[in-house]
Amino acid sequence: MNRKLRMGMVGGGRGAFIGNVHRMAANLDGKIELVAGCFSSDPEKSKLSGEDLFLSPDRVYASYEEMAEKEAQREDKIDFVSIVVQNHLHFPVAKAFLEAGFNVICDKPLTHDYEQALELREIVRKSGRVFALTHNYTGYPMVKEARRLVRDGELGRILKIVAEYPQGYAVGDVEGDGQGKINNWRSDPKIAGISNCMGDIGTHAHNLIRYITGLEIDEICSELTAFIPGRVLDDDGNNLVRFTGGAKGIIHASQISNGDENALNIRVYGTKASLEWHQEDPNELIVKYANAPRKIYRRGNDYISEAASGHGYTRTPFAHPEGFIEAFANIYLAAARAIADQIDGNPAPAEGYDFPTVDDGVAGVAFIKSTVESSASSQKWLKFPAI
Ligand SMILES: NC(=O)c1ccc[n+]([C@@H]2O[C@H](COP(=O)([O-])OP(=O)(O)OC[C@H]3O[C@@H](n4cnc5c(N)ncnc54)[C@H](O)[C@@H]3O)[C@@H](O)[C@H]2O)c1
Repeated sequence: MNRKLRMGMVGGGRGAFIGNVHRMAANLDGKIELVAGCFSSDPEKSKLSGEDLFLSPDRVYASYEEMAEKEAQREDKIDFVSIVVQNHLHFPVAKAFLEAGFNVICDKPLTHDYEQALELREIVRKSGRVFALTHNYTGYPMVKEARRLVRDGELGRILKIVAEYPQGYAVGDVEGDGQGKINNWRSDPKIAGISNCMGDIGTHAHNLIRYITGLEIDEICSELTAFIPGRVLDDDGNNLVRFTGGAKGIIHASQISNGDENALNIRVYGTKASLEWHQEDPNELIVKYANAPRKIYRRGNDYISEAASGHGYTRTPFAHPEGFIEAFANIYLAAARAIADQIDGNPAPAEGYDFPTVDDGVAGVAFIKSTVESSASSQKWLKFPAI
């Protein structure tokens, strides 16, 4: 590739949360340039957001449909679109751009419901385009090292996994103090889907388990709760899990865990060793043994494997902390490599590309569906859909 990849964006206008994170992540390695966008459903806001980003006015669009159509006609069309709108729009926007011939990077959850997820997977397969899903926590080098250790058998047989994602930002709403911290689309089923907490953050914990261990859920038993008065959707949930192959686990996520910030943590217990990783201390991976001292792996050191430090996944030397943006950028880096290979006609590497795919998205939406259905059936154990 002898030029930067051209990126378009749908969503992420003035005042939006994750769009700006995507732009920073895309920008970090100098391989991608934002050239077009539809940043809001309000054309005036889209235009103003485009001005903020110094985009050429003829490439700032009033609707995503117009953007897909007009970009497809350009010589210098975008190479991919980044989708950072709310959940209910992921499907129609992704479909419009895939069918217009574009590669897609989309935020999670994949779609608003399970049927859409299955349909989108078919559309991706038919299109032959690259589709990456920003389950960004898999971008951390020490998460990649954890996966490498499990794959190399360093933990032995996996017996138990505990993954949690407690946040406390909405606890004020429980007492009705008027802060209204989830008083936006996340509490609206028409936009968020059938779950708030499990869909928003539980899916990250689930994805992290799948990425590190390769294990799929076989059966699940869930209790979801809406602690916030008047809310339809969950703000807390606890899931017991049986994995294929016999491992057991617990996945919990919460937005009312008072004092917790973004405490995504995972513990994997094996017959030879165990590991733990904490998102709020992401440069470190702890490996524990029954009869030996613990090992602490730290990002950027020479002993860290190629899987975690190769491919540009580590940018600064050890002791200079890397974090959220860098991990996000690693998803962009891997997806950009796949898109550039496709443009250049290069074959995909034998080991594949290291970014979450549409299959991971289907698994995530299956997770949401299963937790909600199990909880609604008085916490019955349910079979997890085959992915
Ligand atoms: N990966 C992560 O860690 C992470 C974190 C936060 C949010 N998310 C996901 O990102 C998505 C967006 O979340 P957010 O918190 O940034 O929401 P947000 O409400 O802050 O931003 C959504 C943006 O989409 C725009 N938009 C809405 N309809 C549009 C349309 N028809 N055309 C163009 N733009 C439109 C809005 O104007 C806004 O700019 C959600 O699906 C959410 O689950 C992921």
